[in-house]
Formats: sequence, C-alpha cells, structure tokens
Amino acid sequence: MHIPVLTIDGPSGAGKGTVSRLVAKKLGWHYLDSGSIYRSLAIALLKQSADLANEAEIIKVAQAMALEFDCGDELVVKLNGEDITDQLALESTGNIASQIAALPGVRRGLLQKQQNFRQLPGLVADGRDMGTVVFPDAENKVFLTASSAKRAERRYKQLIEKGIDANLVNIMNEIEERDRRDMERKTAPLAMASDALYIDSSDLAIEAVVEEVLNLIH
Ligand code: DC
Repeated sequence: MHIPVLTIDGPSGAGKGTVSRLVAKKLGWHYLDSGSIYRSLAIALLKQSADLANEAEIIKVAQAMALEFDCGDELVVKLNGEDITDQLALESTGNIASQIAALPGVRRGLLQKQQNFRQLPGLVADGRDMGTVVFPDAENKVFLTASSAKRAERRYKQLIEKGIDANLVNIMNEIEERDRRDMERKTAPLAMASDALYIDSSDLAIEAVVEEVLNLIH
C-alpha cells in the first residue's frame, strides 16, 4: 500500500515545525519531528553521562532508547517512560543533537525509527535530510528557509514565551554555528533535494507558507 509523504527540510528556526504541524492537521496526516529524535538522543546521552566522543557508545544508547511521541496540539515526548518535553527545546540540547547528528553510524541507527512514522493516511516529515535520505521517494518536498537574523528572532521569542531565559546575540551565533555544522557534515548534510520547492519565509506569515505548501499537495 503506497503511503504519501510530504517532506519539509531546512535550517533550524525557519518555521518547519509550526508549518509541518499545521499542514499535517489540515491533511489529517501523521507528523514526524525528526529533530526531536536527535534531541532525545542528546538528552539520553546527558542522563547517562555518555562520552560524546565515543560513537560506538552513542549508537548503543540510540538503539536502547524507547521513545514515545504524543503529537497532540503540543508535542509531548517520553524517553524510557520519562517526560522530557521541556528539555527538548533547550539550545544546549539542540547543539549536542547537531554534534552527534554528524556521526554516520548514529544516523544509520536512527533511520528505521524515522521511517516507522510512515503510516496511513500519510506523513508530514520535518528535518534536514527527509527529502534527500530518509524519504527520497516522497512525492512532495519542500525546502523551507529564512535569513539567520529572522530565525534567531523567532527562536528568541519562542524561548521567552516558554519562560526560558534567552539572549538574542548568543542565539544568532549558535544558529549560524549549527547551520555550518549541519551543512558541512559529510553524511546527509542539510541540503535541498533537487525536486524540492524552495520557500524563503523571511517575510512571509506562517499562514502564507502553509497555503503555499497545501497548494503543492493539491
Ligand atoms: O530541527 P532541530 O533544531 O530540532 O534539530 C536539532 C539538530 O538535529 C539539528 O541541528 C541537526 C540534527 N538533525 C539532523 O541532523 N537531521 C534531521 N533530519 C533533523 C535534525
């Protein structure tokens, strides 16, 4: 049975999460936030005080972790039964996620976990390599980006709204460093699939982006 997939790739803070959730809701499809899988692994490693330089140890932790996703209005994630949702959004979690995501064995180890989300009636998958590596046969692909200044501003607002202390200049520096790492890594770097629709959301409202993506599907 063929299961349709829409992939939305792009750098952090481009609005992928919000757009993907809204589009998935409109279509009644499942939603995969692949970044949260790498983030969950980062948290699992911190909890076990694992050596971040030891790829074999990281892969072991990746294989052993039991993740549960509850994709209601807000994503709730449980790691080995414990709710880790609040820790997922932290910049420090994102930075470790980006570091371990550069390891080829870690990416291979997490591939099946991501592909398991492909279930009827369809899937919206958000990440860096959804259209290039995880679901290369997806019939609809989007590459969503925005200037780093706009992305830093959005991330700052998100964190403040969640009551997390934040500094705009630090966020901008971290975003640029993370972009560099995600784009320059050898395995599955952040890159636009040749058959993806390019959308720059710097000056677009979320609703406009959602409409453009839905037009692509229909
Ligand atoms: O989308 P995010 O900010 O939650 O992702 C956190 C990190 O995880 C990101 O900096 C790189 C990594 N990641 C990845 O390598 N591939 C994906 N498909 C999603 C995330």
